[in-house]
Amino acid sequence: MKTKKPKHSAGVASVTAQDVLPENTTIIPHSAPIYTTSTYLYESPEKAQRVFEGKEEAFIYSRWSHPNAELVERKLELLETFGLNVKAKALVFSSGMGAIGTLFQSVLKPGDAILAQGNIYGTSVDYFNHYSAAFKTEVIYADFANLNQLETILRQKKNIKLLYAETPSNPTLNCYNLKALSGLAHRYKAKLAVDNTFASPYLQQPLKFGVDFVVHSATKYLNGHGTGLSGFLVGRDVKFMGKEVWKIRKLNGTICSPFDAWLLNIGMKTLSLRMDKHCTNAMAVAKFLEQHTAVATVNYLGLKNHSDHALAKRQMKNFGGVLSFELKGGYKACLKFLKKIKFCQLTASLGTIDTLIQHPASMSHYFVPKQQRETFGITDGLIRLSVGIEDVQDVIADLEQALR
Ligand SMILES: Cc1ncc(COP(=O)(O)O)c(C=O)c1O
Repeated sequence: MKTKKPKHSAGVASVTAQDVLPENTTIIPHSAPIYTTSTYLYESPEKAQRVFEGKEEAFIYSRWSHPNAELVERKLELLETFGLNVKAKALVFSSGMGAIGTLFQSVLKPGDAILAQGNIYGTSVDYFNHYSAAFKTEVIYADFANLNQLETILRQKKNIKLLYAETPSNPTLNCYNLKALSGLAHRYKAKLAVDNTFASPYLQQPLKFGVDFVVHSATKYLNGHGTGLSGFLVGRDVKFMGKEVWKIRKLNGTICSPFDAWLLNIGMKTLSLRMDKHCTNAMAVAKFLEQHTAVATVNYLGLKNHSDHALAKRQMKNFGGVLSFELKGGYKACLKFLKKIKFCQLTASLGTIDTLIQHPASMSHYFVPKQQRETFGITDGLIRLSVGIEDVQDVIADLEQALR
């Protein structure tokens, strides 16, 4: 490759990546390096022209795509379609919200409506409410367990183009029937999108149940260590993903940075190991909380008395690492309890190797209107716990002392 050889200066700008590689060698590192470059070079102007015309494939500009992004995209496609006879295309974003916003912008046109589950991540609600006004679209919230009610809405409102589910749901830990929901959406010529963040593709593959789009906050389990932000949008219409969705990501500038994609790639390598441990730890914590006299209810899909246990058992490989619970003393008891927590970390995120605890009504779901929060079970007395991969006895001991 022809490299830049300036005649009049020898500053750092004159050194390109090619200058540090031996001539005519193919360097294939075991561990992917971080491609911290905003643009890519061409051997000739003819090649540049062919690449811009789309006649030849090459990296152009890192807002369009870059090697660290493509690496994690291919990996997520394999995870979401593993063992299935399904094709899918994944695109990686700077955050989960970047993926959700791009889904919204690429599927909905002015005059269309989105039918969304009421108990989803707070900022997803905030996004839908905010942009429905700006984009002249409509958002309707409903209980996704009530299929008859959903069908009535779909029959009445012909402009619904997208159903938006989240299962398991944040923070109430309900499980929704993806096969039934995709069948219903398709009967009414709508698409079904699912936020698969809580399960991760290791525990749940929505494409298996006919789902059209899968979104992830990869900031959570896929990264796994709380070290960076990222998100994914996966679609079974490969052409639509490669053209429409890719174009909106390019125009919005919401691709994941090479550094965050590099961190994500490292995290994804240990996804299965971490998820297995998250699940066994969460089950142990749920059983501890269930028998505690200060606890009113425990929402964990692994508990046999959870109303969605049988469905989760059919739809998921295991029950996940997040649970939520209500204290008998309500909001006041929550504050007292959270002040005493020492080992668990008080923060609004989830899905990291460390155990994270938070109060949805005043933190992650603060921006959801109070009435909607309460309708969908996000009460002032609810606490969400994302159980990490530590020795579970340390987590239980902390909860026990804080509940005293
Ligand atoms: C279920 C769920 N979906 C989406 C998001 C948004 O992801 P991000 O924070 O990476 O934008 C979150 C964030 O907490 C989440 O919990």
